[in-house]
Amino acid sequence: MAFADHITVAELERDPYPIYARLRREAPVAFVPAVNIWLVTRWNDVELVAKSPDLFTAEVKTSPIERTFGKPTILTTDGPVHRELRAGIDPKYKPKPVAGYIEQLVRPIAEEYLAPLLAKGGGDLMAEYFEPISTLSLAGSFGFHDIDMPTLRRWFYGLAQGAINFENDPERQRIGDAVSAEISGVAERIFERLERQPDDTALSHMLHDGMPAGKTRPRELLLPTVKVTLLGGMQEPGHGAGSVLVGLLQNPDQLVVLRNDLDELLPRAVDEGLRWVAPIGTQTREATRDIELGGATIPAGAAVGALVSSASRDETRFTDPDSYNLHRNEGPHAAFGFGQHFCSGRWFARAQVIVALRVLLEGCAEIVLDPARLPQFHGWEFRAPTALHVSLRA
Ligand code: HEM
Repeated sequence: MAFADHITVAELERDPYPIYARLRREAPVAFVPAVNIWLVTRWNDVELVAKSPDLFTAEVKTSPIERTFGKPTILTTDGPVHRELRAGIDPKYKPKPVAGYIEQLVRPIAEEYLAPLLAKGGGDLMAEYFEPISTLSLAGSFGFHDIDMPTLRRWFYGLAQGAINFENDPERQRIGDAVSAEISGVAERIFERLERQPDDTALSHMLHDGMPAGKTRPRELLLPTVKVTLLGGMQEPGHGAGSVLVGLLQNPDQLVVLRNDLDELLPRAVDEGLRWVAPIGTQTREATRDIELGGATIPAGAAVGALVSSASRDETRFTDPDSYNLHRNEGPHAAFGFGQHFCSGRWFARAQVIVALRVLLEGCAEIVLDPARLPQFHGWEFRAPTALHVSLRA
C-alpha cells in the first residue's frame, strides 16, 4: 500500500506538515482516500493547478458551499461572472484604499480588547484579542456596523456548518440555511439603502463599482459572495495573527530584534508567519479531463487540493522551511493563493494583522507564554493555534 493510502484525517489535523514533506519527496501528486481528494504538494505544481482554470476549474461539483450560500459564489465560479464579482469586491481591499482606512478601523478595536486583558494580566489572545479584531474589522469594512460580536460569531458558526457539510447532515444544513437566510435579510436592507445612497463600505462598492451610470449589480448575484467572504474574511486574519505571534514567542531573540524596528520588520514577521503556518490550506479545484501531473494521472472530475500550505514549505524554495525565521529573504509565500482566485483581501488582511500586532507589542513590554498551556496548532484545511494563553505586562 502506498504511503498516501495510510494518511488519516486525525493525522492531517494534528500536523499535516511532515505528511506534506514526505509527499513532496515521494508522491508529489497523490490521491488520499481519507479525504477523498488529490493532494498537490510542490510549489510549481500548486501554482500550475491554480493558474490553469481550463484544466482545473473552481466550479467544484462536490462543494457544499453553494448548497448553503447559493450560487454563483466568487470562489466557485470562473470566467466572466467571476470577473464581475471581483470587480465589485476588489476596490475596497486594494493597497491604496486599505492604507487610507486601516489604522482608523483596526486600532480602536484592538485597543478596546487589549485594555481588559492588560488589566487582568493576560488571557487567551486567540479568543479575547485576535478573533474579535478580525471579525469586527471585516464586518466594519463591509458595512455591517451595527451587528454585535455574539451575532457575528453565530453567523460565522452557521456559515461554517453549511460550508463543511460534505456528508449532507440535515441538522448541519438546517443551521447553515437559517443563518444564510438571516444574513440575506440583513444585507438586503443595507443594499436597499446603498442603492440610493452609496458610501465607502465594501457592500456599496459591490453594488456600484464598474457599473454603467444609474445601474447597480443585482443583489441576488452578490449575496452568495457576501456570505463566502464573511466566512473566510472574519476568521483568517485572526488565525494568521495568532500563528505569527507563536512563531515570535517561540523565537524570543527574533522578537527582541523585531521590537527594535517595528516599522521595517513587522510586515516581514507577518509574511513569515503566514508562510510558516498557512491559515487556509488549499485552493480546491476539479480536474476537467484526465491530467498527468507530478508522475500521476488525475482522472477527469476528481477533486484536487492544491496545497498552498505545502508550497510555502517547499524546500526547493525555502531553506529549513519548517522553522520560523523573521530574517528569511527568499521571495513570496503562497498563503494567499495563486491565479485568478488569489485572495481579494490579502492587503487588507496583512495590514490588519500588522496593526493588531503593533498595538499588542507597543502596549505590552512583556508577553509570556503560559508554560502550563502551551499553544497547540490544529487543522489542515484551516490551521491556527487553538488557544494562545499568555501573561501580559504593560
Ligand atoms: C490571513 C488571512 C487570509 C488568508 C490566508 C486568505 C487566503 C485566501 C486564499 C488561499 C484564497 C484562494 C482560495 C481559492 O482559490 O480556492 C482566498 C480567496 C479569497 N479571499 Fe482570502 N484570505 C485571507 C483573508 C481574507 C479577508 C480578510 C478577506 C476579505 C475581504 C478575504 C477575501 C477573499 C475572497 C473574496 C476570496 C475569493 C477570491 C476569488 O475566488 O476570486 N480573504 N483567500
